[in-house]
Amino acid sequence: MRAFERAFADYHDVPHCVSAGSGTEAILLGLRALGVRAGDEVLTGATTTAQAITAIEAIGAVPVIVDVHPGDYLMAVEQVAGALTPRTRCLLAVHAYGQCVDMAALRDVATAHGLTILEDCAQAWSARHHGRLAGTMGDAAAFSVYPGRLLGRYGDRGAVITASDEVRDRLVRLRYHGNRERYQAIRTPGYQRLLDEEEGAALRRRLSGAGSLLAARRAVAERYAEGLAGTDLGLPATAPGNEHTFHVYAVRHPRRERLLKALEAFPVSRVDVFGARDRDLPVTGKLAEELFALPVSASLPDDAQGRLIAALRDAIDSTADGA
Ligand SMILES: Cc1ncc(COP(=O)(O)O)c(C=O)c1O
Repeated sequence: MRAFERAFADYHDVPHCVSAGSGTEAILLGLRALGVRAGDEVLTGATTTAQAITAIEAIGAVPVIVDVHPGDYLMAVEQVAGALTPRTRCLLAVHAYGQCVDMAALRDVATAHGLTILEDCAQAWSARHHGRLAGTMGDAAAFSVYPGRLLGRYGDRGAVITASDEVRDRLVRLRYHGNRERYQAIRTPGYQRLLDEEEGAALRRRLSGAGSLLAARRAVAERYAEGLAGTDLGLPATAPGNEHTFHVYAVRHPRRERLLKALEAFPVSRVDVFGARDRDLPVTGKLAEELFALPVSASLPDDAQGRLIAALRDAIDSTADGA
């Protein structure tokens, strides 16, 4: 466990990593370690998952969801200041689908209003923002590890990284019944979440093999961009300064339902957009109707991707008005 934590901290060039049971728990521990309490509000972007929202709710805090940009699907940071209230305590920056939120702008808001930032890197391990790795720009950052992710091996795990000794201390106590070390008396309510050695060793090996996996995913994304150019399918934009990992290759189209029907033989899925239509979030509402994800695994065979691109182009043409 400690060896993985050291390697994960070193990978990010930060002093501390504390492993956790899952990404959900990493968020929950991170929020608590940053001082979020019951009744506090935590602001986050709409392109997130139910797990991140329930992690906020699990400590009795209130999620406040901000709209996102229509092209890159990232939290509209320019709307954050208008959504703050005296109860806002923390900004949860979800680096959605594999690229980072505008962290300089978010940091300006946090500084101006005395707020902390927790980065949610569940979907963005190894993404870069103006050269910096996701997870190194907030007060702490939560990661998720499971087999479907770029960093994943056997089971579900998570981790929190931070540059702050104080936050690290709180994290260590929280994830182990309030104790700093095993077999001490319980002092504060916490959890029992320790990473087993076998999983830790497998993940350490995975850390060093990330480069080639990432390159393969980016190549799949490039083939989509080339193969689908010239159609009216909305392709994912990469925000300025970002190096995207394409954890999810999310595209949008006004006739999504008909396209998905035409693509029933292919493994395309909808992307979860939380709490979309019943809130006053116009872009999120639209994405809830139009967004879906194309398969982007590093092992996706070229010919399968080629068939999907051709079928998608056909579906777009055959469902067009007048066709
Ligand atoms: C943005 C985001 N945050 C948090 C989580 C929760 O991570 P985990 O499934 O490891 O609990 C997920 C999982 O999909 C996620 O996509």
